[in-house]
Amino acid sequence: KNENKNFKFTLMESTTIIENKIQELLKNFEFVRQSTEHICSFLEIEDYVVQPIADVSPPKWHLGHTTWFFETFILIPNLKGYKVFDPKYNYVFNSYYETVGARVIRTDRGNLSRPSVSEIYSYRHYVDEHMRLLFKDVSAQSELKDILELGIHHEQQHQELLYMDIKYILGHNPLFPVYSDKKVFDEIIREQVKELSFSEGVFEIGFQGEGFCFDNELGRHQVYLDAFEIDPYPVSNKEYLEFMEDGGYENFRFWHAAGWDWVNSNNVKAPLYWYFIDGQWMVFGLNGLKEMEGKQAVCHVNYYEAAAFAAWKGMELPTEAQWEIASKSLEWGHRWEWTQSAYLPYPRFKKAPGAIGEYNGKFMVDQMVLRGASVATSKGHSRNTYRNFFKSHQRWQFSGIRLVKSLT
Ligand code: AVJ
Ligand code: FE
Repeated sequence: KNENKNFKFTLMESTTIIENKIQELLKNFEFVRQSTEHICSFLEIEDYVVQPIADVSPPKWHLGHTTWFFETFILIPNLKGYKVFDPKYNYVFNSYYETVGARVIRTDRGNLSRPSVSEIYSYRHYVDEHMRLLFKDVSAQSELKDILELGIHHEQQHQELLYMDIKYILGHNPLFPVYSDKKVFDEIIREQVKELSFSEGVFEIGFQGEGFCFDNELGRHQVYLDAFEIDPYPVSNKEYLEFMEDGGYENFRFWHAAGWDWVNSNNVKAPLYWYFIDGQWMVFGLNGLKEMEGKQAVCHVNYYEAAAFAAWKGMELPTEAQWEIASKSLEWGHRWEWTQSAYLPYPRFKKAPGAIGEYNGKFMVDQMVLRGASVATSKGHSRNTYRNFFKSHQRWQFSGIRLVKSLT
């Protein structure tokens, strides 16, 4: 009899836990949707449209694509009688989901003068209204918790992509327009003090516990690490300038073959956004073109540059396991930090069934893992198990360098 009562209580309790969780998610949903529009509120209409390189998507495309995600994966399958805002939008705003059909090729996103920016804002508000309607119905809620949560984190990823893409668009305009002087995008990092050391041993990495993580963080597993030292702070502009002034970009010995080809075919001499003007290094940021600040963490270097810098210094980039194990003692969050780990599945990784299985798994080839977070990462969107990933030549993300040294 007693057992029965307890059982009932547990059921009731878990229902409230789910309801509370949904309420919290709905609040986050509203906040995240609004924050995306806030990021774009500093733009002129023309800024929303251009695609200077294939990697950079027009801001208006991000606004539409994040909305399409909720419409496609939540409203269409779950809201009875839902009418899509425009049946042609699936072609325009599907990013890479083969499961969901054909789409405009990535390199053509900048040709989309239509739908107009104002139509895309109407699309956003239409979808938001219908999301509110769907989630009024309590019976729909518990099964939709996970996909709602993924949609929110997906939009947060696109908020950082928006900052990256806006910076690229403005930073490649000869007028160097200022995005905003209200929000400060960079801070001074502390000068490097002495390294932190870790003894050899078997450790566990991967996500554990309550709360959200992406599927690529699951499969917590053991790793063996030899003893190592790690710098408590990322590499500064001043240190990176020493590498440049020591001929770092002119000496093939520091570079991978592919990196050396990249340097020569693009005539690279400095990180992205560095401009040598009137005898002075200037750096473009969302706050405009400013004198290079030696005490800031170096930013916008690719994997080739990070690896060449490490080689010049006689040190190494951390593996993602070293980074994760050391993370509790590190100052991180200014820069995504290149690791020397290839982006591969963790043990027992399984793609989810359906379109969501395309979210991360199919990109686990030919990319490197970055750990940490950056000045452009949304609040609440970082974890020490988070696995970001980019190709070795890409540097428009807010990426920097941290070094380790083997103690064995
Ligand atoms: C994790 C930043 C590499 O840009 O494709 C956006 C994030 N995933 N929509 C990317 C993402 C799905 C992803 N990165
Ligand atoms: Fe996306």
